[in-house]
Amino acid sequence: MAKKKTTLSTAFGIPVGDDQNSLTAGQRGPVLMQDAHLLEKLAHFDRERIPERVVHAKGAGAYGVFECTADVSRYTKAKFLTKGKKTEVFARFSTVGGEKGSADAERDPRGFAVKFYTEDGNYDFVGNNTPVFFIRDPLKFPDFIHTQKRNPATNCKDPDMFWDFLSLTPESIHQVTVLFSDRGTPATFRNMNGYSSHTFVWYNAKGERFFVQYHFKTDQGIQNLTRQEAAAMRSKDPDHATRDLHDAIARGEFPSWTLEMQIMPYEEGLKYRFDIMDITKVWPHADVPPIVVGKLTLNRNPVNYFAEVEQAAFGPGNLVPGIAASPDKMLQARLFSYHDTHLHRLGPNYHLIPVNAPKGRPETSYQRDGFMRVDNGGGAGPNYWPNSFGGPAPDEKAMEPPFPVAGMANRTPYGHENDDFVQPGALFSKVMTDQDRKNLIGNIVEHLSGAQKRIQLRQCALFYKAHPDYGAGVAKGLKLPLDEVKKLAAMSQEERAKATAE
Ligand code: NDP
Ligand code: HEM
Repeated sequence: MAKKKTTLSTAFGIPVGDDQNSLTAGQRGPVLMQDAHLLEKLAHFDRERIPERVVHAKGAGAYGVFECTADVSRYTKAKFLTKGKKTEVFARFSTVGGEKGSADAERDPRGFAVKFYTEDGNYDFVGNNTPVFFIRDPLKFPDFIHTQKRNPATNCKDPDMFWDFLSLTPESIHQVTVLFSDRGTPATFRNMNGYSSHTFVWYNAKGERFFVQYHFKTDQGIQNLTRQEAAAMRSKDPDHATRDLHDAIARGEFPSWTLEMQIMPYEEGLKYRFDIMDITKVWPHADVPPIVVGKLTLNRNPVNYFAEVEQAAFGPGNLVPGIAASPDKMLQARLFSYHDTHLHRLGPNYHLIPVNAPKGRPETSYQRDGFMRVDNGGGAGPNYWPNSFGGPAPDEKAMEPPFPVAGMANRTPYGHENDDFVQPGALFSKVMTDQDRKNLIGNIVEHLSGAQKRIQLRQCALFYKAHPDYGAGVAKGLKLPLDEVKKLAAMSQEERAKATAE
């Protein structure tokens, strides 16, 4: 059946008579200023681009549902984490360092962000497909990201920048090991896990607190691309993972993830053998076995990419009652950074954009006005609190229970006993297969070979400290003298940096 014809209009609904020929003085004459339709059309086009995300610019998203399948009320009072409850979600997956048009098959962590539209407002989970991160102090984040972007002089990606920073930042070794395994190039967004990476806090109705780590485990199974397959994919289809997610959902093959939680009583967490506020560390499963809590299923594609995916805005500070931030320094800084960047990227009323607006309950705040306040802005209701006109009132049940803090205010590094090499060593020697180790070393050698020799040596010393076979394997691939690598590995970080400075 033919679709009913709709008359084209201007942005203000005025019917347009001709959309192919500009208004000119005579057939060959100059264009007239009075062609309001042309001017409006061009002016809007001129403003089509908004700033892309400074990180995680390339991504794909979909809607779905989260179902809580376990009774976790003894750990959290979050209402959406009630057994049997289903909550609508929007998820966005992304690469990190590349621009909005970059290839999906780049070696990079993958963002794994899920917005839960709960009855207590939006809860944003903003994780990655890696259980750890490169750095653990937010002061280092802008510098780290600069090294993953383009050289300021050449505008090219630069292995010197990339490896110089990492080799001078030994706590990155765990994440570097994950990233350069084949998990650094997942086959699709459907075939990867999502981790909170940070420790968060859950608290129950009695106000008891627990430290938690989230693991969304893919039900499709982990599948990765080798570096050769990833290189071929980048040229064959730079959008392969975006396309894969869309097409799978369109076919009715709905991807799902099982949410497993690691949960540790608060006091135990403070004394745990690894610093649980250090995002470069995991909690070994043998210490804290994960428990199954729910299932996330994506079942609906967005209709308009810009409206729903590009304008989606996630914030680690959007936490609902029952869930709280831990004192992890990186997480604390992220609580600020996302809302701040959204104000820049989308404007002060970004929470009104439908994908970001709470769906489980309405916004009932006293925030008013600002650019693009496109609803009725609180109407005739009071715009201040306290008021005696029946405006929304705080409810103390929504408060996080008080928690102790202590210590001297200082710029304090993580403790020396918090060994950075044990866990990447375990990953290399106990978790990886021979084939995984071979691919890891090959992936590193290919990338690190582009850096200066002194940087290669410094980085190789870190691999050696994680495991001698790891360091020796990379040294062999790069034809570096193993004796020199060993000598550097035996030095302190300061000595090593000095010995390999320009
Ligand atoms: P386990 O043997 O219990 O678990 C190993 C974990 O490693 C599994 O979750 C597995 O994920 C994951 N894994 C396998 N290959 C890779 C890879 N190339 N990159 C990242 N993760 C991988 O061991 P432990 O809990 O004692 O941890 C040992 C090491 O495993 C850690 O030091 C850490 O590097 C890594 N790891 C640990 C996690 C944790 O939360 N404890 C989480 C992820 C990694 P899957 O089950 O999906 O195959
Ligand atoms: C996106 C900052 C660490 C996961 C972003 C954005 C900023 C940012 C500014 C862009 C947001 C936007 O424009 O919409 C930071 C800072 C960090 C940090 C300052 C450390 C101090 C992390 C970590 C993780 C993470 C550790 C994962 C565990 C993500 C994800 C996105 C993102 C998934 C994309 C969200 C989306 O899909 O829109 N980050 N980040 N970030 N970050 Fe971070």
